[in-house]
Amino acid sequence: MLFVGVDLGTTSVKLLLMDEFADIKKIVSREYPIYYPQTGWSEQNPEDWFDRLMLAFAELLQGQAKEQVEGISFSGQMHGMVILDEKDRVIRPAILWNDGRTQAECDYLNNEIGQEKISSYTGNMALTGFTAPKLLWVKKHEPDNFRKIKKVMLPKDYLAFRMSGVYSTDVSDASGTLLFDVKNKQWSQEMLKIVGLEAEQMPEVFESYQVTGSLQDSIAKELGLSPDVKIVAGGGDQAVAAVGTGTVGHGMCNVSLGTSGVVFVASRKYSEIDDNALHVFAHADGKYHFMGVTLAAAASNEWWMKNILESADYDKEQAEFFKLGENDVYFLPYLMGERTPYNNPAARAAFIGMDMETSRADMTGAVLEGVAFSLRDSLEIVRKNGVEINSIRINGGGAKSRLWCEIIANVLNVEVNKIHSEEGPAFGAAILAAVGCEKYKTVEQACAKLIKLSSTVKPNQLLLEKYNKKYEIYHGLYPVLEESFEKMAGN
Ligand code: XUL
Repeated sequence: MLFVGVDLGTTSVKLLLMDEFADIKKIVSREYPIYYPQTGWSEQNPEDWFDRLMLAFAELLQGQAKEQVEGISFSGQMHGMVILDEKDRVIRPAILWNDGRTQAECDYLNNEIGQEKISSYTGNMALTGFTAPKLLWVKKHEPDNFRKIKKVMLPKDYLAFRMSGVYSTDVSDASGTLLFDVKNKQWSQEMLKIVGLEAEQMPEVFESYQVTGSLQDSIAKELGLSPDVKIVAGGGDQAVAAVGTGTVGHGMCNVSLGTSGVVFVASRKYSEIDDNALHVFAHADGKYHFMGVTLAAAASNEWWMKNILESADYDKEQAEFFKLGENDVYFLPYLMGERTPYNNPAARAAFIGMDMETSRADMTGAVLEGVAFSLRDSLEIVRKNGVEINSIRINGGGAKSRLWCEIIANVLNVEVNKIHSEEGPAFGAAILAAVGCEKYKTVEQACAKLIKLSSTVKPNQLLLEKYNKKYEIYHGLYPVLEESFEKMAGN
């Protein structure tokens, strides 16, 4: 039997076809544009996602045993606001997870309603990327659009809706809306009231491994698939990537080096985190997780390579970096503001410490190190909350770089384990499809059978000490610059 994992990323949609033994048959992807209508804003057209999905699907299935496809599931960029009208038309472009326009709405939620209340309803505080503040923004700035809303959807759920005709979401993605009572896994009536929405305007919530429906006839016909192909809910990209690296159950940690960078810890039970310093969300394995997010991880590296160096040869640029632990240049990766630990959309990126000897390679290395330092900021909060982390699993485009893995191992003081499949979210989604189609009893059981470690990078005592000192310096930079960032943003 065959299963399709769809990963709706920020830059492209990726589809992976595999059998129930995780033998990957084919992977295809298609890119789509992202729009930045104003500094700090980011939007995409859901129609572009669906269009590229269907093109990629046709290519994926070419030459494959279509009649063996049994289930499809999804992973998606989280928090994005997709709103549909009475006729299921998308009302305005989706406002994405890394869009920072909602500071005023977050201030209203955290300061006027009160962070404690919001946290008691949802387990989290309001952050600019989350969905509820975006809905408040639309209500204030585009009241006509707000009035037209029939359904609020998350990005991957829009694709599932187009394929199945069912309005659904899953517990992990719902957790990132700030409209969801994470502990009890249901929409929060209090939050819906605050935002001005009715329960009917929200999709039905499923566990990530549950079947939500099957293919609509028209889509089945177009793709040459059976209309009995099951649609399995799937989850937010971080939870599904964690499934793809086997980070399930309790106490395991996954680091993702995708567009965003994430420190993700699986937890058997729900518990609140002091001052909401980490997100507390439901996991795709039926349990919970904590995570800290740096907004521009591989995105920082891509910006440096493409926009500044105008180079596509990542290996060559990185091969010239020899100053592990001895680089005097520091990079603050706040190109899109920062989430954990500062929650400040006004933060901006910075290079600091250059002198007349500084080379291109030093700055390339500083970008990789800066992202690693910002991930350590999240890991320090995890450790402060009493969770011991000595080893991590890693996924995302950035994990392909051996140098970056070595930097992460030494900056975080952890053993870095890679998985045989680097396709974290798409692979995780295909696993969820297999669980939904009852090839495995639980997500944990599927992961135990299907995930194999392929290589390990261990930290080195000398480098650890050097990077500890550098991290102290890095960590001292943001507080000094904070006031300037506010002034630069005109606050
Ligand atoms: C998680 C987050 C990002 C996006 C895009 O909270 O905002 O990981 O899901 O990848």
